[in-house]
Amino acid sequence: MRPTILQIFTLLILSFAILTSANASTPANLSFYGVWIGAGPDAIITKFESTLIIPAGSPDKTPANDVQAFWPGMEPAEYDGVFQNVITNQGGGPGEWYLLPFYCCNPATNLTAQMRVWPGDAVKNVFSLDIPSGKWYNNWVVTPGQQGNAAGQKPFGGGFVFDPAIDTETKGAPYTNALLTIELQDLGTWDFGSVLWTNVILEANTTDTAWCTNGPIGPSNSWKWSASPGTWSTSNQNLTTCYYSTVSLECPN
Ligand SMILES: *[C@@H]1O[C@H](CO)[C@@H](O)[C@H](O)[C@H]1NC(C)=O
Ligand SMILES: *[C@@H]1O[C@H](CO)[C@@H](O)[C@H](O)[C@H]1NC(C)=O
Ligand SMILES: *[C@@H]1O[C@H](CO)[C@@H](O)[C@H](O)[C@H]1NC(C)=O
Ligand SMILES: *[C@@H]1O[C@H](CO)[C@@H](O)[C@H](O)[C@H]1NC(C)=O
Repeated sequence: MRPTILQIFTLLILSFAILTSANASTPANLSFYGVWIGAGPDAIITKFESTLIIPAGSPDKTPANDVQAFWPGMEPAEYDGVFQNVITNQGGGPGEWYLLPFYCCNPATNLTAQMRVWPGDAVKNVFSLDIPSGKWYNNWVVTPGQQGNAAGQKPFGGGFVFDPAIDTETKGAPYTNALLTIELQDLGTWDFGSVLWTNVILEANTTDTAWCTNGPIGPSNSWKWSASPGTWSTSNQNLTTCYYSTVSLECPN
């Protein structure tokens, strides 16, 4: 069964949202600009890798009620949880971005302390499944760009093991949906330019490949995005690896 756009936007409601709201209700003006990659509800994801380039900071002077974020993340077939490496404008001063691995939502959890990143930095995120245990390795490597270098930023990386079974509702259901999305809340607007992902790789347990050549899936005319053509290979373990050289969330209409 192929997902519909409606499903994408339903599932995206489960997100970084809870982090920044005082209670567990849906934040005001929650909106998403995202694309989806997956091989269907029966094909579990075993690896999801991507490198994003941090865009310029927003000119907004008061980030507190102006939530801007973007993230790569994964959800189970029931769309009832999301494991995500969020880049957010929350938690610092105007124009600043932070990397914050996050889990939503049973319970919503900061998975590390937030890490400062600069416009132009390349942030490589690798989620890989340890198949026997069902646990995930979440690893990132941050390579400073010109602005980060000028600020004295050093390259850094990190990682941890995450057990999706901590979620009291999903109980560790496997991930089958991968997302690359911008998320806005409250007075947040998409005024920070395009968000570019490179070397996007999804590995899933299937011999089907149409999902790769047909993907990513996203809205056709409500805002602008683009992706290079998907190429794939299938291993003798029935794991298909799909590759997109670039996926760009370009601009709102
Ligand atoms: C999670 O991190 C955010 C941003 O750094 C911070 O504002 C918030 O208080 C943290 N929440 C918890 C429960 O630590
Ligand atoms: C939601 O957006 C509207 C229109 O921009 C704005 O007037 C309103 O204050 C926003 N709500 C919150 C809670 O930020
Ligand atoms: C892939 O799916 C097959 C058939 O359902 C199953 O036997 C196999 O264990 C799965 N492999 C992984 C890595 O999940
Ligand atoms: C791969 O899929 C085929 C067809 O579904 C199946 O016969 C075979 O056992 C699978 N191999 C593995 C290693 O899962």
